[in-house]
Amino acid sequence: MFLRQFKEGPTANMSYIVADADAGKGVVIDPAGETARIIRTIENEGLKIEYILNTHSHPDHTSGNRQVAAETGAKIAGHRLAGTKKDLALDDGAILKIGNLDIRVLYTPGHTRDSVCFLVENKLFTGDTLFVGECGRTNMPGGDAGAMYDSLFGKVLKLPDDVEIYPGHDYGPRPTSTIGQERRSNYTLEPRSREDFIEFMAEP
Ligand SMILES: [Fe+2]
Repeated sequence: MFLRQFKEGPTANMSYIVADADAGKGVVIDPAGETARIIRTIENEGLKIEYILNTHSHPDHTSGNRQVAAETGAKIAGHRLAGTKKDLALDDGAILKIGNLDIRVLYTPGHTRDSVCFLVENKLFTGDTLFVGECGRTNMPGGDAGAMYDSLFGKVLKLPDDVEIYPGHDYGPRPTSTIGQERRSNYTLEPRSREDFIEFMAEP
């Protein structure tokens, strides 16, 4: 698998190119900020980008959609509830086939109503659902701490410990992690009841 991480701008947004290098086909996840480096990498690697995948519709994760689509001809995909302009609406459990890669959609609302994670082999692209050492905010429009609890504890943490985490922002001590590492060290993932988690998320 070809995987490249791009960190952009003052908000430390993380964009990704994920591709089946043999097939020469791939996707861009959350093209943010300055897309020139992403476009250059796509050209250098000779990749055909089939989809732009958005983990959610916040502008810092979708601002490069139009540019990358114009340069590559890729279709834009996001969750069904995402208000952004898109060609393909995704639902929980959907699988996109890119060459020999299966990209599985996990619907993980909480940060927003349209938040998803993408699982590719043993790599999980978590957007603003889970960061290294943190989880996403739930106090913006569409945020829901109870839904976040269900997404984190009912879905994300059900994955095996060796699954790697690729977050939507570089907010932690390192740019990537694993489920096991976060399970052990991320203070937001400490065992709590749903009620306690909602209270915890309401604290400043
Ligand atoms: Fe966000």
